[in-house]
Amino acid sequence: MDLLLDRWIHILAGVTWVGLLYYFNFVQVPGLAAAKADGTAAGITKHIAPRALLWFRWAAVVTWLSGAYYLARAGTFMDAFILQGPHAYLGIGAWLGTIMLFNVWVLIWPNQKKVLGLVDATDQEKAKAARTALLASRTNTALSIPMLFFMVTGSLAHVGMF
Ligand code: HEM
Repeated sequence: MDLLLDRWIHILAGVTWVGLLYYFNFVQVPGLAAAKADGTAAGITKHIAPRALLWFRWAAVVTWLSGAYYLARAGTFMDAFILQGPHAYLGIGAWLGTIMLFNVWVLIWPNQKKVLGLVDATDQEKAKAARTALLASRTNTALSIPMLFFMVTGSLAHVGMF
């Protein structure tokens, strides 16, 4: 029963995380560029981006923890992460998700704090931070495609379809 609930939390958190990732890449980044051009960016950077980032980074943590809990409770944590037999599908998805979590907390969030002025930074530091955060975010968008493929294929492997 707790596995069922945990799996459900994992999926909800994953949708929240990756949904916001796609929002950043497909909506906010191009939207902000247009808003900067006509001087209307301030509202987005002050009211929207910090809220979106809050949900984004914590949804990433909940996704990872609930995924890891599932594997641990099922007794397949090690097998998944060392890509053993049928656990390899989920394992690849879990590895990709782990790299994505690293990108969120080590590359995207600390650099976004500089860009949004939540910590002090010079204009030059801000420009560099924006570039690093953007590249990490683009990387995560690309990684999300195989990650989701292996995550759903891993589920099918569990019921013996692969
Ligand atoms: C990167 C973000 C992630 C997203 C968006 C995500 C999404 C999903 C989805 C949609 C499912 C359901 C698949 C289906 O029903 O066909 C799932 C299942 C699962 N995920 Fe993830 N996941 C992510 C990361 C992770 C990580 C990092 C781990 C492990 C540390 C993990 C472990 C699992 C497990 C154990 C299942 C259940 C598999 C089964 O029922 O056989 N996930 N995930």
